[in-house]
Amino acid sequence: MSEHQRLYPVDASLAASAWVDADRYRELYRQSVEDPDTFWREQAKRLDWDRFPDTIKNTSFASRNVDIRWFEDGELNVAYNCLDRHLERRGDQPAIIWEGDDPDQHKIITYRELHQRVSQLANALSALGIGKGDTVTLYMPMVPEAAMAMLACARIGAVHSVVFGGFSPDALAGRIVDSRSRVVITADESVRGGKQVPLKDNVDAALTREGTDVVETVLVVKRTSGEIEWQDGRDRWFDEVVDAASSECPAVAMNAEDPLFILYTSGSTGTPKGLKHTSGGYLLYAALTHETVFDYHPGDVYWCAADVGWITGHSYIVYGPLANGATTLMFEGVPTYPDHGRIGKIVDKHNVAILYTSPTAIRALMAHGEHIMDSSQRDSLKVLGTVGEPINPEAWEWFYRVVGNSRCPIMDTWWQTETGGHMITPLPGATDLKPGCATQPFFGVQPAVVDNDGHRLEGATDGNLVILDSWPGQARSIWNNHERFVQTYFSTYEGVYFTGDGCRRDEQGDYWITGRIDDVLNVSGHRMGTAEIESSLVAHESVAEAAVVGYPHDIKGQGIYVYVTLNDDVEPTDELKQALKQWVRKDIGPIATPDFIQWAPGMPKTRSGKIMRRILRKIAANETDGLGDTSTLADPSVVEDLIENRHIKS
Ligand code: WTA
Repeated sequence: MSEHQRLYPVDASLAASAWVDADRYRELYRQSVEDPDTFWREQAKRLDWDRFPDTIKNTSFASRNVDIRWFEDGELNVAYNCLDRHLERRGDQPAIIWEGDDPDQHKIITYRELHQRVSQLANALSALGIGKGDTVTLYMPMVPEAAMAMLACARIGAVHSVVFGGFSPDALAGRIVDSRSRVVITADESVRGGKQVPLKDNVDAALTREGTDVVETVLVVKRTSGEIEWQDGRDRWFDEVVDAASSECPAVAMNAEDPLFILYTSGSTGTPKGLKHTSGGYLLYAALTHETVFDYHPGDVYWCAADVGWITGHSYIVYGPLANGATTLMFEGVPTYPDHGRIGKIVDKHNVAILYTSPTAIRALMAHGEHIMDSSQRDSLKVLGTVGEPINPEAWEWFYRVVGNSRCPIMDTWWQTETGGHMITPLPGATDLKPGCATQPFFGVQPAVVDNDGHRLEGATDGNLVILDSWPGQARSIWNNHERFVQTYFSTYEGVYFTGDGCRRDEQGDYWITGRIDDVLNVSGHRMGTAEIESSLVAHESVAEAAVVGYPHDIKGQGIYVYVTLNDDVEPTDELKQALKQWVRKDIGPIATPDFIQWAPGMPKTRSGKIMRRILRKIAANETDGLGDTSTLADPSVVEDLIENRHIKS
C-alpha cells in the first residue's frame, strides 16, 4: 500500500460519543433505501410543522415525467424552524458569531436578537409589497444581514436569489432579470483582505441593463460608509427601514413544496441556470446532514468558511446550523489576511469545534509552510470538513496533521448545488477515512456508476456517477424552465439523475470523485461553464473564435486556459492578451479571469466542424504524448501548431 492509500480508522471514543457509529450507519442506511417512507417520516420529526405530512415521498426520475415531491401535504415555515422554536431554550445563545475581515472586529448575535431583526426585516419587505412567491435578489458581503435577509424572505414566503458578491454587474443583471426581482438587498461595499469591493456601484451599473426596470427598491446595508451614488425613491438604507418596522411578524405557513430559494449555477451549455429548492425537504436534509456529518452537539461552535453566495453557504452557514439551534460562525475575510495564520487564530478566538473549508484554501496555506500555524493551538477542534473539489491526498494529510493536530477526522463531502446537501461523505463516528476519498453515501442516497452508454458497472470500477432515486434535499427544477432541468439531469441516462462527475469505486465500495466530465470547470471550488467564458470572449471585437478548457493548477485545482483565434486583420500582441483577460474579468467577474491565453490560428475540429476539446485539454495539460485518436480531425496540422506554441513550456 502506498502512503496515499493509508487508512485512518474511526477513533473509538468518537464512535462511542457520536450520533452515528458504524453499526447504526449500516442499519439506518439500509432502512433509508429499502423503506424511505418510514425513514424520512421519522426524520421529519426534527422539524416543527404547522401540518405534519401524511405523504412522504412522491418522486419520478422518468425523463417523460420528472416530478419530485417530498412531504407534499406538509406545511411549515423555514424561518420559524431556524429561529422561533429555539427561543425558549436558546434565546440567549449565540446564533451567529460574526468575525470581521479586520481581526479586531467581531459581533455576537443571539437567537433572540436574530429573531427580532429578521421579524422586522420581514415586515419591512411586506411593506415594500413583497409576499409569498415574490423573488428578492441578495448581493451581499459576508455580514449577518445576509443571513437575516434570507430568513426574512423565508418568514413571509418570498423566494431569495443570492448572487455571489464577486460577480460582475452584467452577471448580476442577468440573474435579476431571470428571477424578476422587485427588491435587491446589497451593501455599500464589501471588505475582503483589507480591500473594498463596490457592491452598490455594481448594483447601480446592473440596474442600467435592459429588463432590470422590474427593480423598485434597493436596500443598502451600511458596511464601510464608503462613497456611493444614491437614487431617491429607489434606494433605502437597510437599517433605517428595519429599525422603523415592528418586530411582531407571524411566520407564514408554507407548503413543503413551496420554493425557498433560487440559486444560479453554471452548466456545460448556455447561461447559468436558477436551481429551485423548496422548503420542507431541503431544510430537513440540510439539518440532518449538518448534525450527522459534522457530529454537531449542542454548544459546539461551528464554522463553515464558504460564502453565502454559494450553496455551501446556504445549507451549511445558514439553514442547516440554524435549524439545529447551532452557533454558526460567519467570516467576512480571507484565510490569508492579515497573515497566513488567520484561520487558526479564529479557531482559538472563538473556540471553534468544527471547521469546514475548501481544498483550495488548504493548498493556498500549505504553500507557505507549516510554521504559519504556530500562532495558534487549535485545541478546540473536533471535526474537519472539505467541500467543492477533489482534495489531493497531500492536502488532506496536511489539513489532518497541521491544522487538526492529527486528532480530527476529515469529512470529504461530495455534493452539488443541485443536491442541496451532502451526498457522499464519511461520518465522524462511523467511517474509516482514506485521504482523497469521499467514501460512502449518506442516508437515502443511492449512487451508481455507469459507462458512457448508461450500463451499470458493478464492483471496483471507473465511470460516470449517477444517483438512482430521489432524496429530500434535491433541487426540484430550473426556475421557469423545467424542460431544461429534465434535459440537463435526466436525459443523459434514462431514469437516473446524472451528476456530471466522474468517479472510481474501489474494492471496499468507497467512492473517489475524479472531477467533472462535462464542460464545467472547477476553479478554486467555483463552478464555471466553459461556454459562458467563450461567449464573453467572442463578444470582443478582435475575437473570431474561442475555446476554453481547464488545466491542472497546483493551488486552484483547475486553471482557465483559453485558445483564441483572432479576426484576420488583428495583430496578436501581449497587450491584447491582457485586454482580453480584463474583458472576461469585467464581463463575468474576477473568478472567471483566464490564467493563460494562447493564440490559435485554427482550432482542432472534426469534419463536421465541432471543436475537439479533448485535444485542447491535453495540450493545455501538457499531455501531448497521449493525444489519442486524431484521425477525425479536419486539419491535423492545426494540432502541431498548437503544441509548438503551447503557452506553458514544460
Ligand atoms: C465538485 C459545491 C470532489 C464536483 C457543494 C461537483 C467535489 C461540483 C466535492 C459541485 C468533493 C464538490 N470531492 N469534487 N468533496 N465537492 N465537488 O455546485 O465536481 O458549486 O459536481 O457545489 O463540485 O459544485 P457546486
